[in-house]
Formats: sequence, C-alpha cells, structure tokens
Amino acid sequence: MPVTETQVLDALRKVVDPDLHRDIVTLGFVKNLVLDGAKIAFTIELTTPACPVKEILQSEAEGHVLAIEGVDSVQVEMTAQVRTRETKQDDLIPDVKHCIAIASGKGGVGKSTVTVNLAVALAQSGARVGLMDADVYGPSIPMMMGAAGEQPFTRTDPDTGQSKIVPILRYGVKLMSLGFLLEEGKAVLWRGPMVAGTVRQLLADVEWGELDYLLVDLPPGTGDAPMSLAQLAPLTGVVIVTTPHHVASNIAGKSVHLFRRLNAPIMGVVENMAGFACPTCNTVTPIFSGSSGEELAAEYKIPYLGSIPLDPTVSQAGDKGVPSVVAHPERRQAESFKEIAGKLAQQASILGYARKDLTRIGDATERPKFKPVES
Ligand SMILES: Nc1ncnc2c1ncn2[C@@H]1O[C@H](COP(=O)(O)OP(=O)(O)O)[C@@H](O)[C@H]1O
Ligand SMILES: [Mg+2]
Repeated sequence: MPVTETQVLDALRKVVDPDLHRDIVTLGFVKNLVLDGAKIAFTIELTTPACPVKEILQSEAEGHVLAIEGVDSVQVEMTAQVRTRETKQDDLIPDVKHCIAIASGKGGVGKSTVTVNLAVALAQSGARVGLMDADVYGPSIPMMMGAAGEQPFTRTDPDTGQSKIVPILRYGVKLMSLGFLLEEGKAVLWRGPMVAGTVRQLLADVEWGELDYLLVDLPPGTGDAPMSLAQLAPLTGVVIVTTPHHVASNIAGKSVHLFRRLNAPIMGVVENMAGFACPTCNTVTPIFSGSSGEELAAEYKIPYLGSIPLDPTVSQAGDKGVPSVVAHPERRQAESFKEIAGKLAQQASILGYARKDLTRIGDATERPKFKPVES
C-alpha cells in the first residue's frame, strides 16, 4: 500500500516545538508535502531563521517519517518566515514584525555593544534587521558600526509625495541614529517632549521597509525615551542588559519595573562582562562569584538569555567600527552573541504566539492606555 498524506502528517504530529509546546503540524510549519511512492519531501517553515532548535526539529521529523512502513527516503527543507504581529491602525512601523528595545539601568554596561552584535548576528542568520539608535544622550551606534560621518539622504515616494530618511546599511543591518542627523559636536539639551518627538521621527520618518526585527538601543535609565517608545511602537518586548555587579543589577530591576508598568513584556536578561576571556587562549575566568544576571532573571521571573565575557577584542572591535561578531567570530564572545540572538528570536516567536492566542480568546489584544509613571 502506498504511503498516504495522513500517515505522514500523523508522524509529523509527534514532533513538538519545545518552546511553543505544540506539534509542527498544528503550528502550520509543514509545507509543500510531496509523496512520490516511497520518497517523501516536505518543507518545515520555522518562525525565525535564527531558531535554536532547527536541527532537532529537522532530525525528529526525518526520524518519524522514516519510521513509517514503506518510506525509503525523506527530504526536509528548512525555511523560516517570521510571523507578523497584530498591527494597529495608527502603527508608525506597520511593516516591522518585531520591535525589540534594549535597555539598561545605567550607562556603560555595554548596552550598545550588545545591541550592535545581536543585530548583526540576527542578520547573519538570514533575518531582515534594522537598528535604531534612540540613545539621544550619547548615540554611539554610528561609530560602532563603522558608519560615523555618514549623512543619510531622503527619498520622496512619487505616489504619496512623502519624504523619508533612507537608513545606512552596514553588515546587513539598516541603521538610523540621531548621530547621523545632529551637527557634530553640538550638544543638545533634551526636554521630555523633544525626546518623544525624536523617537517618533526615528520610527515614522525613516524608510525602514519590511523588517523581521527592529532593535532599538535606548538611553540608559528610566527616562523619557523608553516611555515614548513603549507608547509609540507596539514593542514585542524589552531586553535588559546588566553586568555582574549587584549595584548594576539592582538598577536593572528598576528598568524591569518600568517596562512592566508600561505593559511591555520583558524578553530576558543579558549579563555582559561576565568573566574575563583570555586574549590568547580564549578561556573565560570568572571574576565575581555567581551570576547577577541569573539572579535578576530568577527574582523577576523573566528569561535569562545568557552572558558575554569581558573580552578586550570586543571593545577594540567596537572602537574600530567592526562589530566583534564580524571581527572575531572565533572567540567566545561571538559564540555567546549568536546564542543569545537565537534565544531572543525564540522569545519573539513565543510572544508572537501568545498574542495570537489572546486574539482568539477575545478582546484581550487591546493594549492598556499609557499611564505616566511618577518619578
Ligand atoms: N563584553 C565586553 N568586553 C569588553 N569590553 C566591552 C564589552 N561590552 C562592552 N564593552 C566596552 O565597554 C564600553 C561601554 O560599552 P557601551 O556598549 O558603549 O555601553 P552602554 O551603551 O551601555 O553605555 C565600550 O568601550 C565597549 O567597547
Ligand atoms: Mg550606549
């Protein structure tokens, strides 16, 4: 008896996505099923090209289908299509699937460094990535991405007559920063409403186009920019960067509180400068005992995305304008960044699904109105 489509789909139902807790058939991941006698071919379309469980899903799918009597060979193609979020009518960035903010309690913890390397790692995995520098007080993305001194031009859409600023492309990532737009050396005294207006412009007046992930480098702390962003952009969530000092993690806790009150999900904690990576042998020596990142994650019940060692090549690369995942892909830091990028993409998919579930249940998709946070 020839193998039937039902048999193959039943076999594939045994493959459960460990993060989304559903089987790949129910999730709609199985596409283009072709039965050619004893030869079976199909595609598994994942929610992100950076999926950390890609290989596991592929080998399980192959195994279960090969186990069907009468099947001789299985050909699985792995692809990815980042699922879209619910778009609001007044959405400033309707073609961006996931807008993710990177925040920290204080400056100097490596927030921009982490943002840049995660963006490049996601782009290297095949995703369409944008990077918006919303650190109005110290825009450092142009320097770190080797784009200092660039002057973006504007393009007018002939149909709508609307002019938009064209992002600068570096390492496969679309960049926009106030650093490109401000006159060099001119200090700006920022007042709250100006910050909100600027964040709005960086979202709405930039030709971001279709993106899977737009990472936003926020200024440190809990000031106007994070609040404006949470109001203006439907954030998939926020990543908190901290360092192994308890002081830093306590301050990071304040960020967690702020974003919770703004109704932006916390996607996880990244601990930067955890241990020292030897410049010659690449082994990582712990300096502080324990992990304040893990402690923070446990305390607030948020995912721990991983740690990045303190590595001199990271800051050298940043100063030279070449992200360290590109400049030193062989070192532990690059491995860490790639792993964290995968986990972040995974969290984005999970949150994307959570929202779809809410839609099905009923009215819970409406985001609560923003309430000012008292200082
Ligand atoms: N893992 C790391 N190893 C070594 N140096 C780092 C690391 N992360 C960040 N740095 C350096 O620390 C400094 C502050 O980082 P930056 O990303 O600008 O922090 P923030 O954006 O939080 O102010 C920079 O000089 C950067 O190169
Ligand atoms: Mg910074």
